[in-house]
Amino acid sequence: MTSTWSTLCILSVLHVCLIGACPCEHLVADPLFPGGHNGGMRIDCEFHEHGLTEIPTDCFALYPDVSQVFLDFNEITTVNVDSFNGLNNLKTLVLKKNKISSCHDDAFAELHQLEFLDLTSNKLGNAPASVWNLSNLTKLSLADNNIKDSSSFNIPNLFNLKWLDLHLNHLEHIPTGSFDLLSHLQILIIKWNILQEMPDLTKNLALTEVIANGNAITKFPKHVFSSNLTSPITYHIVDNPAWDLPASMLLDLPWHSHIVTDNDEEIWCLDESEKEDLLSRSWTIQDGMGRYLYLEQLVRVCGLDGMPDPCT
Ligand SMILES: *[C@@H]1O[C@H](CO)[C@@H](O)[C@H](O)[C@H]1NC(C)=O
Ligand SMILES: *[C@@H]1O[C@H](CO)[C@@H](O)[C@H](O)[C@H]1NC(C)=O
Ligand SMILES: *[C@@H]1O[C@H](CO)[C@@H](O)[C@H](O)[C@H]1NC(C)=O
Repeated sequence: MTSTWSTLCILSVLHVCLIGACPCEHLVADPLFPGGHNGGMRIDCEFHEHGLTEIPTDCFALYPDVSQVFLDFNEITTVNVDSFNGLNNLKTLVLKKNKISSCHDDAFAELHQLEFLDLTSNKLGNAPASVWNLSNLTKLSLADNNIKDSSSFNIPNLFNLKWLDLHLNHLEHIPTGSFDLLSHLQILIIKWNILQEMPDLTKNLALTEVIANGNAITKFPKHVFSSNLTSPITYHIVDNPAWDLPASMLLDLPWHSHIVTDNDEEIWCLDESEKEDLLSRSWTIQDGMGRYLYLEQLVRVCGLDGMPDPCT
């Protein structure tokens, strides 16, 4: 059926025919995303006129070799098990800003080469299981969905990740040890969840940005980072209920790091020499409004000024 029809199209006006079958454009790949070099092509269906309501599988049949598919800013609600079948060269898949509430667990199972998967701003209640098998991923976003439960997450399997965005979900917890194997991880965005604990990042030496504000963290551990980080980092912890911070957590940060915290925070040093060390650091410290904070005003010495949690 399809082939007869295609033949008829070739005999008539090819261009019109292709547009009829596929509502998207077939263009040179975008160099800003994985798969954007070496003559790759993309299927582009961003901001489709009336808002696509389904995955345009007809387009994939016409152009199975594309390295990028952009379907962001549409009205897609469902991803089926075979929605992306045959896209064996796909490196970038952007599904941001749709209404996906139903996604088959195996929907991404065949996309072995995928490096960037963007599911931001949908209505997913869970991360589809096949996401955790995509170990070529360097960038993954599940941000701004309705994900509560992380017990089926398998983050350690995505050991090539450089960028992971989980912000604006309802996560209370991320499985212990999730980040231990992610030696390339540079950017971790977990803000605006209801996390009660700060994850351990002591194995992630490539970090440059950790955004953890607006959670439910009541206590920060003595060490979150390795003292061997390779570059200064941006570390946001403003709007968490923790009041007393251990100086040791901050002393692991390289000089010129940028810290965003609450202006009524107290930073507890074990003794005077730790305080001296802390005050010698050249960090930029700001509150959530961007106002500069002065370490001298936040710093306290255990025993001398009190004995809260970080002192014990
Ligand atoms: C990662 O991609 C390579 C090709 O670029 C492929 O051979 C390999 O199977 C992929 N790995 C996985 C786990 O799919
Ligand atoms: C993930 O990969 C494993 C090992 O290849 C396989 O057994 C499992 O079914 C896969 N899971 C999904 C959801 O694709
Ligand atoms: C940092 O690096 C030094 C020297 O390479 C090593 O001895 C030390 O164990 C490392 N510290 C951490 C916390 O990884």
